[in-house]
Amino acid sequence: MITQQEISKILDKYDLKHLAIGTIGSHSALNIFKGAKEEGFKTICICKKSDTILYKKFPLADEIITVKDFTELLNENLQEKLRQLNTVLIPHGSFTAYLSTEQMTENLLVPMFGNRRLLHWETGRERQKEWLQRAGLRLPKTFDKAEQISELVIAKLPGAKGGKGYFLANSPESFQRKVREMVSRGLLSTDDINSIHLQQYILGVNVYPHYFASIVNNDVEFLGVDRRYESAVDAIGRIPADEQLDIKISPTYTIVGNIPLTLRESLLPELIRMGDNVAKTANELAPPGIIGPFCLETIITDNLEIYAFEISARIVAGTNVGIGTSPYAYLKYGENMYTGKRIALEIKEALRRKEANRIFA
Ligand SMILES: Nc1ncnc2c1ncn2[C@@H]1O[C@H](COP(=O)(O)OP(=O)(O)OP(=O)(O)O)[C@@H](O)[C@H]1O
Ligand SMILES: [Mg+2]
Repeated sequence: MITQQEISKILDKYDLKHLAIGTIGSHSALNIFKGAKEEGFKTICICKKSDTILYKKFPLADEIITVKDFTELLNENLQEKLRQLNTVLIPHGSFTAYLSTEQMTENLLVPMFGNRRLLHWETGRERQKEWLQRAGLRLPKTFDKAEQISELVIAKLPGAKGGKGYFLANSPESFQRKVREMVSRGLLSTDDINSIHLQQYILGVNVYPHYFASIVNNDVEFLGVDRRYESAVDAIGRIPADEQLDIKISPTYTIVGNIPLTLRESLLPELIRMGDNVAKTANELAPPGIIGPFCLETIITDNLEIYAFEISARIVAGTNVGIGTSPYAYLKYGENMYTGKRIALEIKEALRRKEANRIFA
């Protein structure tokens, strides 16, 4: 495990007046780069060759480093180059999608804005559940075995795959049938069958609140909310019921984009308490807890019960709906505040206070 001392040593050698903000070119990179530029930082994009068109079209990356594969981030040469450029990395969803927790905590020797020690709590489903439960959140029930399925469940495949390949079942028999179907359609590998996670299906709408845990201000801010736009589940309602039955579609949840959302004001107090409690629990699990952005994934039912089924202790792609501004960021900051910029602002403030060691790990 890379220690805070090792990171501190690197930071000691950095020219903090010329800090560069770097990230992988994907997910929320534009959001991060725009915020960094607005706060006067240099930006570095680690990018696949085929995606450079994006980071040239929106000229927000001062330097583009092309790689064949994001695992090249583990190469000593690339890391040395990033350190030479005084780079701090902003982790987002593509980091955990392409690198394992071990690789990030053992082999990525570049300061990161965030708490590496919390990654371990974020990436395991069981540990995540413990975290959210300890924070007092309402969670969907889980079923250990397919034979126990007694109501509608959502079957989740291992790993953060943007909901790709998820399916529903309402009995052990329908589960087995769906598994066979998914395997034959190539959406599920036989290796993954045993690690499918069965969770009570909550009938409601998905709501993803975005928070920001500020270490320098010792506060949890509420910056925005989104909902998801998913293929094919968001398309099924466009097909008449007869055809739905005929072609036997099962909803899948491949994320295509995000839609901004404002909520009934009466839902906000509970969502804010949830964010505060999750941050407080994180501080107990792995001090200093969450550093910077985090997001809860919730479903809200028709009697306005909020079920949380996941946490991401980093920037989420849903915050891209707020680039420029979101209503909630506006309420606190006025115009032009969003997660990418909030990150840059936090870094700037920590540097001003000579507290880099508190926000980079
Ligand atoms: N318990 C549940 N009840 C009802 N719907 C659910 C439940 N859990 C997840 N969903 C829906 O399934 C979709 C994908 O779920 P989930 O977020 O778990 O996928 P994921 O693989 O973690 O994706 P990502 O990493 O992008 O968050 C979401 O639209 C969510 O609303
Ligand atoms: Mg999720």
